[in-house]
Amino acid sequence: PFPWYKRMRSENPVYYDPEYRLVNVFRYTDVKETLGNFNKFSSQFGKAFNPAGGPISESIINLDPPKHTKLRNIVSRAFTPRTIEKMAPQIREIAESLLNAKKGHEVDIIKEFTSPLPITVIATMLGIPLKDMDMFKKWSDTIVGGSETSFTNFPKTIEDMKGYFQKLMIEKEKNPDESLVYSVLNAEVDGEKLTMMESLGFFILLLVAGNETTTNLLSNALLTFSENPGTYEAMRDDSKLIPQALEEVLRYRSPVQSIYRVARDDTDLSGVPIRKGSIMVPWIGSANRDESIFEDADKFIIGRKENRHIAFGEGIHYCLGAPLARLEAKIAMEYMTENFGSYEILRNRKMIPQESTIVYGFKELWVKLN
Ligand code: HEM
Repeated sequence: PFPWYKRMRSENPVYYDPEYRLVNVFRYTDVKETLGNFNKFSSQFGKAFNPAGGPISESIINLDPPKHTKLRNIVSRAFTPRTIEKMAPQIREIAESLLNAKKGHEVDIIKEFTSPLPITVIATMLGIPLKDMDMFKKWSDTIVGGSETSFTNFPKTIEDMKGYFQKLMIEKEKNPDESLVYSVLNAEVDGEKLTMMESLGFFILLLVAGNETTTNLLSNALLTFSENPGTYEAMRDDSKLIPQALEEVLRYRSPVQSIYRVARDDTDLSGVPIRKGSIMVPWIGSANRDESIFEDADKFIIGRKENRHIAFGEGIHYCLGAPLARLEAKIAMEYMTENFGSYEILRNRKMIPQESTIVYGFKELWVKLN
């Protein structure tokens, strides 16, 4: 998409596409404005537009204030960097359990590592018992999978999950713990508990928003490091380089390339008139390559200074899981560089990219771990 973004940033930075009836936004400042100015651009589409339907349309990612603020506050404490940091030893253990016997092997790194890692972490945070983990992983795959089969299985999976979480909530009610399921269950907004749909919306949102995105960050990182000789070795010799390198991957190959908003009223963006009800598509992937903001924007620079990328969004919907995603990715790369001297991407095996204009990464990526 990057050459297209570049052309659009220069020729048609706010572009109404009559075929899809979308307003595409390409420049950094306009993308930021579209994402961040909720008075002009709403996140509330209602059920019709959201492919995941039901529960997700009741979740924070599709709500505006004041309801957005109240619901987000329920879980925001669980996602602060300080709380998340306590998960580090567990995340390390999960990484170890997934990769410990893999030295010298050729693996689909998505299936073996970058996909199960975030799913297992979020399941642990939710308080899913270990015995249910495999079933939970299957559901998660169906929900975020986006494949033909996952689409047909979708309604059934939502029903299954609803039933499952209902039972889990009853168990947690009897045996309170620190899990997210318990805290959502006991939260009150304006003196009332959340409805089943609202709670379920939360849990499913965490799966949808958090898993594939983190998987994509890691697979994009592995691809990018392999294209830039010396970067992996540099991180292996000095692990302090890892966080900054990952920030640059977030900018250079953003796991979320685009988002949607809807114009509340007739308005304008950088002088281009926008009609009330227009669906806006701010392209994060383009903003993060904007040459007026980033020097050598099309270059991957491992130690890039003042990297003001917006891969996690902007404003009130800024990614709730950003501290968690950063920690997971950091630990994953630390584990890899500590345990594998090098790796190669096996380009002669399958390399299947995501077929989506929203998420950007791989569905299958074979790697030899040395
Ligand atoms: C929101 C990206 C990982 C949970 C967002 C948004 C972006 C984003 C761009 C803004 C959406 C909007 O403005 O409409 C990413 C990327 C990730 C990642 C690139 C990984 C590298 C995670 C994780 C979790 C998570 C691990 C949770 C476990 C959420 C939630 C929201 C959100 C709940 C909605 C926040 C709100 O509406 O207030 N994410 N995300 N994300 N993300 Fe993430």
